[in-house]
Amino acid sequence: MLSSRLPLSVIPATAGIQRSRIFMIERQHWHPVASADAIGAQPLAVRLLGEDLVLWRDTAGSVHAWPDRCPHRGARLSLGRVQQDRLECPYHGWQFEGSGRCVRVPALPAFTPPASHCVTTHEAQEAGGLVWVRLENGTTELPAFAGEGDARLRKLNCGPYTVETSAPRIVENFLDMAHFGFVHEGWLGERSATAIDDYRVEETPAGLRATQCKAWQPQSNLHSTAPAQVEYTYEVTAPYTAVLTKIPESGTVAVPDWRESIALFLCPADAERSIAWFRLAVADFGSPDEKLRAFQDTIFRQDQPVLESQRPKRLPLDLRAELHTAADRASSAYRRHLSRLGITFGVSR
Ligand code: FES
Ligand SMILES: [Fe+2]
Repeated sequence: MLSSRLPLSVIPATAGIQRSRIFMIERQHWHPVASADAIGAQPLAVRLLGEDLVLWRDTAGSVHAWPDRCPHRGARLSLGRVQQDRLECPYHGWQFEGSGRCVRVPALPAFTPPASHCVTTHEAQEAGGLVWVRLENGTTELPAFAGEGDARLRKLNCGPYTVETSAPRIVENFLDMAHFGFVHEGWLGERSATAIDDYRVEETPAGLRATQCKAWQPQSNLHSTAPAQVEYTYEVTAPYTAVLTKIPESGTVAVPDWRESIALFLCPADAERSIAWFRLAVADFGSPDEKLRAFQDTIFRQDQPVLESQRPKRLPLDLRAELHTAADRASSAYRRHLSRLGITFGVSR
């Protein structure tokens, strides 16, 4: 779980209008779909796994996630408004309460809608400043982020960043050290120090862990005072989620006992379009939010054009489709993991 200490409000899924769908294992995983503070008095339209959803918040603070389509005549519910804990459709004003049931049809004031007059509801919960949605019931939990429960680390979200590529391409970029000296020259790497030492990759129940990863970095973080050898650990904790921890050699950071952990949380909005957040857990309680975010923005804006240039945009899971070296073993392991899981969204086979 992201953290059992975080306040969670789970809205159970209930049956509504059912449509036949091709089964996708991704639908049983939790995905972030919006920053929690983006959901105020107005309903919010989001995309997840190629589907339009509407998010809205009731007066108790619970977030609801429904298909963004009225079951009456198909209007977008996100164009409507929230009225007394009900979502009102913009077209004929039908009102749906939090359970998804229609409780008012304005054209027939005396009519009591039957239980079948309802929208499908999805499970939704808030954690780590994000709203997470699971389209189908499953046994999966929120992706683990060990830094979340560490009170010595400050938590901060960066993003959202809209990226015109698949979520797996972004995860793979996050696991990749061989691009540091080129894409992040002068920051996370140097052209004069691009060799990747051997590192270990092991499977875990949730994905994989890469350890003993080392990189020479001129400016590894906001408070770097000197170039440093930095030791990284990477973990894939869900199909579209990865976490890194990085520890620069001592004496190269202005903040004592500097440690940082960064989670990459991705919303697979469409197969070739994703929304990214970074959740930082850092030993820095002094810097303003904007300053920490500016560093992360700088690094990610360096990645983004290269990420969006990659073809195909969907990550090829057939290992024969692209070339691999020992330096790429984390990304190769990630591709094998997605294959084993049966992931189909954002990949090509
Ligand atoms: S389309 Fe929503 S009330 Fe008619
Ligand atoms: Fe990068």
